[in-house]
Amino acid sequence: MITTTGLTKVYRSGGREITALDGVDLHVREGEVFGVIGQSGAGKSSLIRCVNLLERPTAGTVSVDGQDLTALVGRGARAGKELRRARSRIGMVFQHFNLLSTRTVQDNVELPLEILGVSGRERSRKALELLDLVGLGDKAKSYPAQLSGGQKQRVGIARALAGDPKVLLSDEATSALDPETTRSILQLLRDLNRRLGLTVLLITHEMDVVKSVCDSAALMERGRVVESGTVGELLATPGSELAAQLFPVGGEATGSDRTVLDVTFHGDAATQPVISQLSRTYNIDISILGAAIDTVGGLQVGRMRIELPGRYEDNVVPIGFLREQGLQIDTVGAPAQDSALVKDGAK
Ligand SMILES: Nc1ncnc2c1ncn2[C@@H]1O[C@H](COP(=O)(O)OP(=O)(O)OP(=O)(O)O)[C@@H](O)[C@H]1O
Ligand SMILES: [Mg+2]
Repeated sequence: MITTTGLTKVYRSGGREITALDGVDLHVREGEVFGVIGQSGAGKSSLIRCVNLLERPTAGTVSVDGQDLTALVGRGARAGKELRRARSRIGMVFQHFNLLSTRTVQDNVELPLEILGVSGRERSRKALELLDLVGLGDKAKSYPAQLSGGQKQRVGIARALAGDPKVLLSDEATSALDPETTRSILQLLRDLNRRLGLTVLLITHEMDVVKSVCDSAALMERGRVVESGTVGELLATPGSELAAQLFPVGGEATGSDRTVLDVTFHGDAATQPVISQLSRTYNIDISILGAAIDTVGGLQVGRMRIELPGRYEDNVVPIGFLREQGLQIDTVGAPAQDSALVKDGAK
């Protein structure tokens, strides 16, 4: 639904060049909620602004719903009109809501429809329908200043839906909200995704947001996408940083002569008594340092941090046994060459 290839954005300011996006290839499938996470300055907002062409990419392409938007840029007035039409089909939700304080809630939602030249009656019908959809049917005549933060964001979402978009882009839509309100806004985005088949690309720096609503995620660092995939794929990727952040387990090694492993269970493997089999087969004592079961991206996942006596080299065979049972094994705190071995071994 959204595809970028080699997307690059270089800002020039005060004689300096800042590469905010450095060849981003992203693929967001139709109907999914896709989260992009990364530290401040990683290029997340630049990415989302390039996707709807609010910002003009320096290089690369963006296509949304099968249409190459980058090809429309700068091709004269006719293409400009096409680009505006294409953009009106991409809804955008902002961190600070960006509502007009002198307009009522309803008039805020009607604004994009006015720009599209929709007639007064139709505008009003559509705005009221959208306000109902976001749970604000009774606030049409209120002004933004009379609303809570969460309600303002609902108005922002209703406004973003005015052009019947297939795609909704959200840049930190919940980061100005308290945790409870955040949950309700995320739930709303999830509902809209399901009910309207809306594809959602959301930017966040909070892992909890990814965890609660996203089907897929990408991690950005210094203008690049360093990891991306469905939540299930990420959890099944050895050494995935996103997976570790999505689903952390604690626990420190009890001594230097120990091997610490993170064992991730999902699917069939979750029901097998693998740890006791391991202990019996190799006659080793296993300590459990930490464990958690959680729902990540709608998947039930378990993770356990265990400790085996001996160093990594002494435990190659038991680790192989665990992998054969279909478990995802990550060594924790292993020296660099060992973790390289682990990654190779897992392929
Ligand atoms: N209009 C601009 N002009 C010059 N540099 C910019 C501009 N917008 C962003 N940058 C720079 O590009 C880099 C990426 O910025 P961007 O806003 O995309 O990051 P971000 O991941 O959204 O960060 P945050 O989490 O703080 O919102 C930063 O180094 C930033 O300073
Ligand atoms: Mg940003």
